[in-house]
Amino acid sequence: MAVDADKPASPSTAFRLRPQCPGSGSRSGKTAGHRPEGGEQMPDVFEVLKKDHDEMKVMLAELEDGPKASDGATAEQLAFRRQALDQVIIEQSKHEAAEQQYFWPALGGLGSGGARVMQDGLEQENEAEPLLAELGKLEPGDEEFEERLTALISAARAHIAFEEAHAWPLLKAAINHDQAQALGDRIAAAKKTAPTRPHPHIPPQAARTAGPVAGVADKVRDILTGRGKNPS
Ligand SMILES: [Fe+2]
Ligand SMILES: [Fe+2]
Repeated sequence: MAVDADKPASPSTAFRLRPQCPGSGSRSGKTAGHRPEGGEQMPDVFEVLKKDHDEMKVMLAELEDGPKASDGATAEQLAFRRQALDQVIIEQSKHEAAEQQYFWPALGGLGSGGARVMQDGLEQENEAEPLLAELGKLEPGDEEFEERLTALISAARAHIAFEEAHAWPLLKAAINHDQAQALGDRIAAAKKTAPTRPHPHIPPQAARTAGPVAGVADKVRDILTGRGKNPS
């Protein structure tokens, strides 16, 4: 098993735990996603990723429904739209970088079936990077903005659905609860130093070494420019 999940889980307040699913303790307690009776536990890899996916879906829906330049949106509304898109780019960049560091290698280590799904997933993430980079430079009043944004929303939803339907079940069947929890811990930790911008020049194989370096540079730029402050 090539799952890289040897680091012990440690307490964190970064994630809320979902309520225990009734009947989830009916098996041996070693299956990924299992929740023993009582007490709080660290989220496993699927809970960590699902929280991100759910938040991303909300942000995408808000962008889809938000007032556009063609609707006669005010300058303030368009500035809000720009900030909301920045937040999507930041969260998607961090999420995909953390997946490339730990999730996809774990899946790719499961044999040819896992490697095929990993390859498809990585291709989807790579294809999104130029679009994210392009959108990062556009303003909501620009001619191409809404067309590119619509493409991003569609691709992001399809990618999330792909991972949940094709990648998660393979990994869930192959790892136990402790491994799933340790992997979730690593992904959550990786997000803290992950890039906040797309970096198409960093290949997924170099994500663990080059990602955190790019993440530091991105965060310095974000601080200097005020990028990523929550729209209000
Ligand atoms: Fe992904
Ligand atoms: Fe994902």
